[in-house]
Amino acid sequence: MNVVTTLIKSRHSVRKFKPDPVNEIVVRDAIECASLAPTARNLQPWLFGAIKDKETLAKIAGLAENGKFIADCAVCFAIFGEKKEMYYLEDCSAATENLILALQAHGVASCWVAGDKKPYAEPVRQLLKVPDKFTLVSLVAAGTPADITIAKKKALKLVSFAEIYETEDH
Ligand SMILES: Cc1cc2nc3c(=O)[nH]c(=O)nc-3n(C[C@H](O)[C@H](O)[C@H](O)COP(=O)(O)O)c2cc1C
Repeated sequence: MNVVTTLIKSRHSVRKFKPDPVNEIVVRDAIECASLAPTARNLQPWLFGAIKDKETLAKIAGLAENGKFIADCAVCFAIFGEKKEMYYLEDCSAATENLILALQAHGVASCWVAGDKKPYAEPVRQLLKVPDKFTLVSLVAAGTPADITIAKKKALKLVSFAEIYETEDH
């Protein structure tokens, strides 16, 4: 059994958390793993925030309409990208997934909450006093899972092909 593929297959978005805190060593390790993601031209155009303060979490949850559960997570990560860099969205998305998988490796569940293209991206940046050259790409709510929902996935044969794509109707 391969440890990494088993880890990837065991991950599910979790939106209900127990009140247990997440160890600071885990927070730092997850951020380090995020910062090791590949980036176009190795620019690493990002900034990673970790928010544990309950008042700030409640404020972020109040802004993010699809992330109300952020109020009850142990730690919320905020991933910002340098908006002048062409590939900041891809780079920060790769970092977000690294962060999520690193958390999973430490037994910490999480959920990616949209940031990029959301009207609350700018208010969240201002709330966290992040410099204007950055824009919010993603939020990741994390903690000990209280409830796990398994999302249905498309069958591999519907989303993959080998060599040349062929439609099923011929
Ligand atoms: C770019 C992106 C944005 C997302 N935004 C939200 C969000 O705002 N709120 C939320 O509850 N889940 C959000 N999710 C999580 C997805 O809903 C989740 O990944 C999907 O339902 C599949 O479930 P799984 O992660 O358990 O495989 C987001 C995921 C991605 C990749």
